[in-house]
Amino acid sequence: MKILVIGSGGREHAFVWKLAQSKRVSKIFCAPGNPGIGQIALNISIQASQLDQLVRFAKKEKIDLIIVGPEVSLISGIVDLFKKNHLNIFGPTEKAARIEGSKVFAKKLMLKYGIPTAKFAIFDDYGYAKTFLKTQKYPLVMKADGQCLGKGVMVCQDEKSAQRFLKLLMIDKTFGQSGNKIIIEECLTGQEVSFMVVTDGTNFVSLLPSQDHKPVFDGDRGPNTGGMGAYAPVPFIDKKLISRIEKEIIGPTISAMAKEGCLYKGILYPGLILTKDGPKVLEYNCRFGDPETQPLMMMLKTDLIDIFEAVLKNKVKSLRIKWFAGSAVCVVLTSKGYPGNYEKGKEIVGLTNLDKKNDLQVFHAGTKIDNGKIVSSGGRVLGITGRDKNLRLVIKKVYKTIGKKGVHFSGMQYRKDIGKKGLKKKLWN
Ligand code: AMP
Ligand code: GLY
Repeated sequence: MKILVIGSGGREHAFVWKLAQSKRVSKIFCAPGNPGIGQIALNISIQASQLDQLVRFAKKEKIDLIIVGPEVSLISGIVDLFKKNHLNIFGPTEKAARIEGSKVFAKKLMLKYGIPTAKFAIFDDYGYAKTFLKTQKYPLVMKADGQCLGKGVMVCQDEKSAQRFLKLLMIDKTFGQSGNKIIIEECLTGQEVSFMVVTDGTNFVSLLPSQDHKPVFDGDRGPNTGGMGAYAPVPFIDKKLISRIEKEIIGPTISAMAKEGCLYKGILYPGLILTKDGPKVLEYNCRFGDPETQPLMMMLKTDLIDIFEAVLKNKVKSLRIKWFAGSAVCVVLTSKGYPGNYEKGKEIVGLTNLDKKNDLQVFHAGTKIDNGKIVSSGGRVLGITGRDKNLRLVIKKVYKTIGKKGVHFSGMQYRKDIGKKGLKKKLWN
């Protein structure tokens, strides 16, 4: 099979790495890809947003299967466009991708179908929202309806910061149309986990639960990022809790989408918070998570093609996914300054010293080739990802590869506590 992967981050590198091991795959293209992907696939210089060019390329090359990484492409209807052109593409349609594209759509869906989530109110009028904020208890959470490059959500500790964020969204229009509607919701507490499932719109199979680390600093301090590292599986999510999540959240969401006339096919990834009252949905994503996909691909034994095919042929009911034993972890190395303005163009040293075994990989994200050298070009630069017999061992193995004697670059920053929460046995300490 000829495959086209769309995207250029660590998630896409992990897909390509896994697909390259499949006997069923003869050629992999990646648009636009990155230097790490370029070592095992053919990068083509078309951006994920250049949908018409991507269609033309896929037709010309007679691509058998197209896999989309970034949500922006899915939300803007890439699946509909490719299907119209009789191309085999994996992912939800534009209508179904609204589950991530519009937080108001997602909240209304959850309310209508009794899916557990934070209590909320929706506003499209600045004056009403402003008055509402005066009567509330704090902290509370405010969210823009649309996509805001990960900056559209704020946990507001007091009214003053809430009023400031409200103005930013609705008056200053810092995120444009995305702030036309906003959600003000109850602030929940508990561990956050990523729960991805594969679905053909009727049946689903859950992937291993994973946990991201969004805040930039150790101990979950500092501003949120795209994700500073992840591990899978999550030891405190046992079979009983998985069944509960499937019964109360996943099943009802998939059937709700079908009832609403937007059959959901692809990866459904609710971000969950495990509260004392049970698991609740913080948000839905319409794609694989990044960095979570990096440890997940490393844990996955089943051929990734079998998973995509089960969805496209509506055969998820008979899909069985096999995983390696043990645990995998990914530590993201970022540029100095990230998630604010960050440095670029720093040479990355030590990449060739790493074991090229299947249980330790460097997935590239923000890198490029400059004068024959690999240099940093983004906020999240690399995802050092490993697998071992257990979480403690793999954490040790991955951190050992980072630093002056291993992989490093000038100004490199990373969290030193990725996976630590998974070492605790109990959920509530
Ligand atoms: P979201 O994009 O909706 O997942 O929000 C980004 C982050 O904001 C989440 O990962 C949480 O850390 C935080 N968050 C969102 N909603 C809530 C909530 N209702 N209560 C507490 N924290 C929240
Ligand atoms: N890891 C968070 C996300 O992919 O949205």
